[in-house]
Amino acid sequence: GVAHEVNTPLTGISSYTQMLLTQTPTIDPKHLVLEKIKRQTLRASEIVNNLLNFSRTGNVEFAELDIHRVLDDTIQLLEPQLRNTQIKLERIYGEHLPNTIGNATKLQQVFMNLLINARDAMPQGGTLAIHTQYRDTAILIEINDTGVGIAPENIAKIYDPFFTTKGVGQGTGLGLAVSYGIIQEHKGRIFVESKPGQGTQFQIKLPVAASRYQALAGD
Ligand SMILES: Nc1ncnc2c1ncn2[C@@H]1O[C@H](COP(=O)(O)OP(=O)(O)OP(=O)(O)O)[C@@H](O)[C@H]1O
Ligand SMILES: [Mg+2]
Repeated sequence: GVAHEVNTPLTGISSYTQMLLTQTPTIDPKHLVLEKIKRQTLRASEIVNNLLNFSRTGNVEFAELDIHRVLDDTIQLLEPQLRNTQIKLERIYGEHLPNTIGNATKLQQVFMNLLINARDAMPQGGTLAIHTQYRDTAILIEINDTGVGIAPENIAKIYDPFFTTKGVGQGTGLGLAVSYGIIQEHKGRIFVESKPGQGTQFQIKLPVAASRYQALAGD
């Protein structure tokens, strides 16, 4: 598709820039410009990769997963970014949570986006609470923040590709669109509740592994 067509020249720009960078001394003013090109190219390819994620279905490996491991791995990646903030991270995990079936990398991408969104919503600090529980034959994951919240008129738009309230260069508006697609692929659901000025809660429901096996057997 189009995303693939764009990726190829981007890879070219990226490697030629890299080449020039190694040939340009750091004191040369051109070095800074090349660094900028490199960063912007990286950003463009991130956007394209997110777009690729949209169209890509199938050929992703699904396996039985412990959702707490996926969450912990995501948090570990995020922790350096929370270090210099006033954000308190809380983990309240339910006991004896059954496994789900999914792709760890993709689910990690979903949690990462939700956690980064929560962080961005709390520039003054606050609490980022992650709760899990086994409820109504599903695994329920809640991500709560005490941030700025989402205006009621924007709630219906947050999953739209390119909807963002973040500044240019800050957000692409693809995070939730991609996350929504990934949760659909997992036969899950995603819900949001938000109070402007108080905070936001995202809920993700994923089917337990046993019920996915049953559904597959019934197909
Ligand atoms: N926890 C949250 N608190 C407040 N607003 C939120 C929250 N999560 C999402 N939003 C709103 O939804 C918009 C879309 O979110 P989404 O993750 O899709 O894109 P983004 O974060 O703006 O950019 P990207 O994820 O591509 O870097 C955000 O710009 C923000 O306005
Ligand atoms: Mg986002």
